[in-house]
Amino acid sequence: MRAFIGGTGLTRMPNLCVTERHTLGSDWGNPSAKVVEGSLGEQSVLFLARHGDPHVLMPHEVNYRANIAALRHCGATEIIAVNAVGGISADAGTLVVPDQIIDYTWGRDNTIYERRNREPVHVDFTWPFDERLRRQLKNALEKRGVNWRDGGCYAATQGPRLETAAEIRKLENDGCDIVGMTGMPEAVIAREMDLPYAMLSLVVNPAAGKADREISMDDIRRVLEGGMDDVLAVLADLPVYAH
Ligand code: HPA
Repeated sequence: MRAFIGGTGLTRMPNLCVTERHTLGSDWGNPSAKVVEGSLGEQSVLFLARHGDPHVLMPHEVNYRANIAALRHCGATEIIAVNAVGGISADAGTLVVPDQIIDYTWGRDNTIYERRNREPVHVDFTWPFDERLRRQLKNALEKRGVNWRDGGCYAATQGPRLETAAEIRKLENDGCDIVGMTGMPEAVIAREMDLPYAMLSLVVNPAAGKADREISMDDIRRVLEGGMDDVLAVLADLPVYAH
């Protein structure tokens, strides 16, 4: 079954017809919220609010391992993650389907392979995002006719503060196009748990130093409101999961 992880601005999916809410623990602790099961048009899907419902968890407080484990336990076999990001080379309002990621986070539980009695495992992560899911997202975006972009490198920063202008210059020199705080370790834990994973990122502000004024939460909220309607429509327009 397909699962969605909703980030800032997507704590609930109003177009989801809910059939069940699963309260779960996991080997890794508790997920951010109940796993919601339901139908989105013809699609049977799962949904999890990354920051909790209501939104209370900051990016460094999210239990990424528990979230992915809970989704898998409920039958998830692939994940589409939605997140709000700052734009380095992409304008506010753009929806991006990244194809690369760089991890600048620290101090997070970033692997499931830490038990002493297990063999060391090094998963391949050359291409962090699943191409089939990316293609499905791109087709739905094209149909919707929104401002979107194929590919780009997501910089995962620690937060919760936003970056300095110098940090954004450094990320740009590193080849990053967008910046957010939740892409890692979420993406790699999905890979370690063998779940195909792709991201749909909504650019909600110019990254620090990329506009002639400071980043305002009001501006972010305005972009989020309009943009998440497009995100909901795009997710609802994905092909019915079939394997
Ligand atoms: N930086 C990091 N994370 C973000 C931003 C940003 O500018 N905007 C939304 N999430």
